[in-house]
Amino acid sequence: MNIVVAGTGYVGLVTGVALANAGHCVTCVDVDQAKVELMRQGVSPIYEPGLEELMQENMERLTFTTDYASAYRTAEVVFIGVGTPEKKDGSANLSYVFQVAHQIAENIENDCIVVVKSTVPIGTNDKVEKLIKDNLAHDVWVEVVSNPEFLSQGTAVPDTLHAARIVIGAESDRAKEIVRNVYENFHQPFVITNRRSAEMIKYASNDFLALKISYINEIANFCEIVGANIEDVAKGMGYDPRIGNRFLHAGIGYGGSCFPKDTKALHWMSNYYERELKTIKAAIEINDSQKLKLIKKSKQYYDSLEGLTVAVLGLTFKPNTDDLREAPSLVNIPIMLDDGATVKAWDPVGVENYKKKYPDELQYCDTIEETLKDADICFIFTEWQEVKDLKPEDFKRLMKKAIVLDGRNCYIPETFSGSGVVYNSIGRTIVE
Ligand code: UGA
Repeated sequence: MNIVVAGTGYVGLVTGVALANAGHCVTCVDVDQAKVELMRQGVSPIYEPGLEELMQENMERLTFTTDYASAYRTAEVVFIGVGTPEKKDGSANLSYVFQVAHQIAENIENDCIVVVKSTVPIGTNDKVEKLIKDNLAHDVWVEVVSNPEFLSQGTAVPDTLHAARIVIGAESDRAKEIVRNVYENFHQPFVITNRRSAEMIKYASNDFLALKISYINEIANFCEIVGANIEDVAKGMGYDPRIGNRFLHAGIGYGGSCFPKDTKALHWMSNYYERELKTIKAAIEINDSQKLKLIKKSKQYYDSLEGLTVAVLGLTFKPNTDDLREAPSLVNIPIMLDDGATVKAWDPVGVENYKKKYPDELQYCDTIEETLKDADICFIFTEWQEVKDLKPEDFKRLMKKAIVLDGRNCYIPETFSGSGVVYNSIGRTIVE
């Protein structure tokens, strides 16, 4: 089958490479010439473990181009994997999706299935189909299928190669069959439904996970008040298969390009239909306040951070990605700087992206040791393995005042007993 993938971000590129790995010939289209040049040399433009290796293994079935017109002309299946960023009002910006839809309409010369992987509000794929049909340059059959993506950044390759399910939302048996055939070699369970249900599955899944995190964070905050330990509470809950043990890690809130955007988009949609989803609203509010949790905790030790040296470990929204979108560090570091602190930061891969926003305002360190050296307080925002490997004596030895505020519960609190380090994490007793 002649497959084209529009967009080479996390969703598009991983999809393209995985489809090539399953034996298809895939043309990946992107508007960015420099990115295309890189990919032609087998270099992944995004940091994603295992992606570049898989790309290189499948180069003979992969083509990268900016020439979308030629690519669409002979396409039998076009996947749309472009971004749907958040607009100021919280709704999803669909301009990239519609732009690609226009280009498809103007160029396809064969019957074609357009598979939308981008996360789009319920009903969008009806509009995409209408737009394409209204603008077709040739008399061909075209149908839009919703096929939402469930990969996570940092584990995108295994998530795609071993997905829990493949959701296909289509309005005709012909379209369902074609997309099912595309995924034949993936050997994953199919959920086949109509388009709107497929679109809803994506939002309901992401927002459920966001809600699960906000729920455990709220319980963690309550654990601090009543003297319970959130890790034990989550473990005790997680053994119940009806609850499950994943996404029960309390912390400084969820970030990334998906949960914040998708909770806000569903909330926006529910208000649009005058049926506000109260649980989603609560998840958003809890997360916004959770992101400030460590700054609030710091007030227990210092009235203000003015004149202090603050060590920050981790800038990205989670480990194994260089992505900073909606990362807690983006909310907290500006507050520290406003307060008048000197901020020293370490992150194994996120520094270059952070420098684009804050080139000179903070000191970027190459090592954790350099970051902690002579600091008055340490904030942990990302649970990188290098951070988890630290010992209480490392903080004690290097910091001027060993106060550690851990937003990711990287250590067992008891290991800090008698270490001379103040260890304050999320939902657990403070060890001093
Ligand atoms: C999320 C979903 O997990 C994917 O299934 C989905 O496909 C993707 O969004 C998307 O819509 O594209 P992602 O944002 O890459 O994936 O990352 P997650 O691993 O889900 O983490 C999101 C945030 O939640 C991170 O900031 C992480 O630290 C936080 N988190 C996660 C917690 O605070 N606690 C947890 O127990 C789990």
